[in-house]
Amino acid sequence: MKNQTIITEDSFGSKGSLLQIYTYPSPILKKVAQEVSEFDDDLKKLCEDMLYTMYMAPGIGLAAPQVGVSKRVFVMDIDFNCEEVTNSIGQTEYRLNNLNPRVFINPVIKNKKGELLYEEGCLSVPGIFESVKRAKEITVEYHDLNGEKLSFDADDTLSVCIQHENDHLDGIVFLERLSLLKKNLLTKKFLKQKKKNG
Ligand code: NI
Repeated sequence: MKNQTIITEDSFGSKGSLLQIYTYPSPILKKVAQEVSEFDDDLKKLCEDMLYTMYMAPGIGLAAPQVGVSKRVFVMDIDFNCEEVTNSIGQTEYRLNNLNPRVFINPVIKNKKGELLYEEGCLSVPGIFESVKRAKEITVEYHDLNGEKLSFDADDTLSVCIQHENDHLDGIVFLERLSLLKKNLLTKKFLKQKKKNG
């Protein structure tokens, strides 16, 4: 990130380390990620750092390949608010509240129903936003950090977000869900912008 941002949240504090986010067309983003088999402290630390990195960006979802780790893991929070305030010494501060962090390990999407056009963006393709056609309703099966198998039904924003992050685990960036014409146009735009920003 170019401009200095200060983010505070009581329950969030300074937990976690900031990870590097790989941007398109980095090869790691094209790789199919590996299943997680060990639910250990390293996995907990990875998820904590991914959540921290996601909140700092800020973004609503982040998949392990985006931070250079080829594992079937993503984190998400579609509920938090980011409030911009000016602090006592005149700096802009971002205050996070209403945090609802979610962790999905080895997710499998089932029972896709309906259709929805939703404007998506991605921390690996910063500055590019475009509507993508997704299933409106899904069921997702996944493991939690303890290795326990869970499942729930999601719709609308949560459904779209899970489908977007799950795509990252299969080496798919949202640009690839667009028509060839749009994909080429936006890819060109993104690479030009990336070159300009160094
Ligand atoms: Ni993304």
